[in-house]
Amino acid sequence: MSSTLSPRSPSRRLVLSRSAALVGAGTASLLLPQIARAQSNKVRVGFMLPYTGTYAQLGVAIENGVRMAIAEKGGKLGGREIEWFKVDDESEPSKGVENANKLVQRDKVDVLIGTVHSGVQMGIHKVARESGVLNIIPNAGVLPVTRALCAANVFRASFTNSQPTLALGKPMMERGLKKAVWITWKYAAGDDAFEGFKESYTKAGGTIVKELAVPFPNVEFQALLTEIAALKPDAVACFFAGGGAAKFMKDYAAAGLHDKIPLWGSGFLTEGTLDAAGAAAEGVMSTLHYADSLDTPRNKQFRTAYAQQFKMQPDVYAVQGYDSGQLLVAGAAAVKGDLANKAALYKAIESTVVDSPRGKWTMSKAHNPIQDIYLRKVEKGDNVVVGVAAKALADSGAGCKLT
Ligand code: PHB
Repeated sequence: MSSTLSPRSPSRRLVLSRSAALVGAGTASLLLPQIARAQSNKVRVGFMLPYTGTYAQLGVAIENGVRMAIAEKGGKLGGREIEWFKVDDESEPSKGVENANKLVQRDKVDVLIGTVHSGVQMGIHKVARESGVLNIIPNAGVLPVTRALCAANVFRASFTNSQPTLALGKPMMERGLKKAVWITWKYAAGDDAFEGFKESYTKAGGTIVKELAVPFPNVEFQALLTEIAALKPDAVACFFAGGGAAKFMKDYAAAGLHDKIPLWGSGFLTEGTLDAAGAAAEGVMSTLHYADSLDTPRNKQFRTAYAQQFKMQPDVYAVQGYDSGQLLVAGAAAVKGDLANKAALYKAIESTVVDSPRGKWTMSKAHNPIQDIYLRKVEKGDNVVVGVAAKALADSGAGCKLT
């Protein structure tokens, strides 16, 4: 691959600009956009993220994180300037392929950073596999992308949806919470999160008395909360995120459940949602690969710099964006900006030890982070670390074959 003249390689650019001088005016005008691109020689980086809807804040945090990581290393990739492109994917799966193609076909990006929503990710994945464009996933944890449908050009800087919940069952059982209701949004992320919860909770001896769901991004929780009150489980476990998660915690408290039935979750529940949820979030327990209060110099330095730069507190999404940026910086540096040298680029990304605010992590063979999962508790509006719920947890990567 690296020896062929791909449309994105610098040598191809040279050929194009030289030949442009030789062609007639008519043909030249057809070639103009390509030549302009060639001459700029910038790395074309595309964000495909939600900037509207329930996950809008997640998209912003991710973009901030990416930009921060790259700016810290001089604002270039392998010595090349960057041209940025942006598409709002609205967390709308039906537009996933079309939106990915806006970046890949129309804007000819060298790398697509996206996205948050698992359903949309499947659209990006189709385009990434067909076009071969480098895709760094800053959030969406949909399982097949780093399992049976894994791809050499696709790397995740975040998690699989079942990773946090694989660490959820044991600490619940250790606190005597033997019967639980599971509640989520009905889409891939909720289903995947349930896979991890079911495995860990039943293995630890727990019983799931009921599975409840609302369609994404619906936030009409009332009927299900009434059902939970009637079921009287020892605990509720859930997957929700973004604006919907804040609403869920508020409705949970308003339904009188906050002080009666402990609420646990995949840790996204309390990421970027604590201000909005206020007192309703206090005491909520969760498992995730990050916590605000991680007491390491790396995390403290990251949090201070992020808050200074963006006038807001970072959350797990900012960290994942930051690590996506770090992967890109490391990969581009290894190939000295020649992102068309794919074999070397992928090898560099695969072997990077990411020095993350979440703690150091490495890439699994299937291109998903191997990372610690923390047990956290919301205290005074912060996600406070209670302990390490799972050390160096890897997704199974089942069915992934990369040659
Ligand atoms: C997903 O759709 O994969 C997803 C969305 C938001 C999260 C986590 C996972 O916080």
